[in-house]
Amino acid sequence: MSHAPYHADRAAPVVPTAGSAPAAHTRTPNRATRFRGSALVTGASSGIGAAVARRLAAEGGWHMVLNGRDPTRLNRVAAQVSAAAFPADLTRPHTDRRLCDFVLDQVGRPDLLVACAGVGWAGDFTAMPASAIEEVVAVDLLSTLHVVRQFVPHMTEADSGRIVLIGSVAGSVAVREEAVYSAVKAALGVFADALRYELRATGVGVTHVIPGVVDTPFFARRGVPYLRSHPRPVAPERVADAVWSAVRRGRDEVYVPGWLRLPARVRGGAPGLYRCLATRFG
Ligand SMILES: NC(=O)c1ccc[n+]([C@@H]2O[C@H](COP(=O)([O-])OP(=O)(O)OC[C@H]3O[C@@H](n4cnc5c(N)ncnc54)[C@H](OP(=O)(O)O)[C@@H]3O)[C@@H](O)[C@H]2O)c1
Repeated sequence: MSHAPYHADRAAPVVPTAGSAPAAHTRTPNRATRFRGSALVTGASSGIGAAVARRLAAEGGWHMVLNGRDPTRLNRVAAQVSAAAFPADLTRPHTDRRLCDFVLDQVGRPDLLVACAGVGWAGDFTAMPASAIEEVVAVDLLSTLHVVRQFVPHMTEADSGRIVLIGSVAGSVAVREEAVYSAVKAALGVFADALRYELRATGVGVTHVIPGVVDTPFFARRGVPYLRSHPRPVAPERVADAVWSAVRRGRDEVYVPGWLRLPARVRGGAPGLYRCLATRFG
């Protein structure tokens, strides 16, 4: 498939956005009737990002650019979904700008950005090497901020678009032996809220997707397997379905699975009780 700049349907909004209408607490009004256009998915060479790319391809009408580090795996996913591939390490200087230029060149102004790139690290904080702290912060937080910073002006200029940030329930409840990962995912959630407020008067929406445990290579890569029996891992396709549903409905915040919002709410509403329960039951 060729990836000539895509400019069809620019007159109509292609994804639901907040616009200037008053927004509900967890959902922004759906102004759009059709969902198609151009999209960038980061972290698309594996796991959740690859599932999101396949989900968008199954919907049809999305002209996509995929980013990941590993060129072989990224090209394989890109070939499956007829997308353009931009293999690159997002923590390298200026990659965000080069990626943005590539997207504009290949598929035109982005209607949708799904930021999935991320790494984990598990173990005692005091045993965490400085290089690992830097990598988790650089990939999960800084590179996401830089990519979003590149794309938001193009979306606000068109008064249309949606940014989807893949967070983690670790950022909502804080997970033992995942201190830095929990901290950066919490930061991503607060960033999503703050950016949404800032963009409220524009047609650009921000969705924070908060998965629990997902069956991907994430755990093998961080070098510590997921061994708990509960919560049970969900398939990455389930997260991809939630992403698509959130894009279609203009949702601000989505937990996957949905029941995970309960511990997050208990922690928010009764932090002392939550800390007791978390200490007692892990
Ligand atoms: N799996 C879970 O249980 C879980 C739960 C909650 C949230 N999440 C979040 O979901 C997102 C996706 O994770 P996943 O489970 O799909 O893990 P995964 O299968 O390991 O995929 C991670 C993706 O991030 C990319 N990536 C890592 N470092 C990068 C860098 N420096 N530059 C560019 N791309 C980079 C990887 O590219 P390469 O493969 O090419 O290196 C890969 O495409 C992450 O943000 C993660 O924190 C995962």
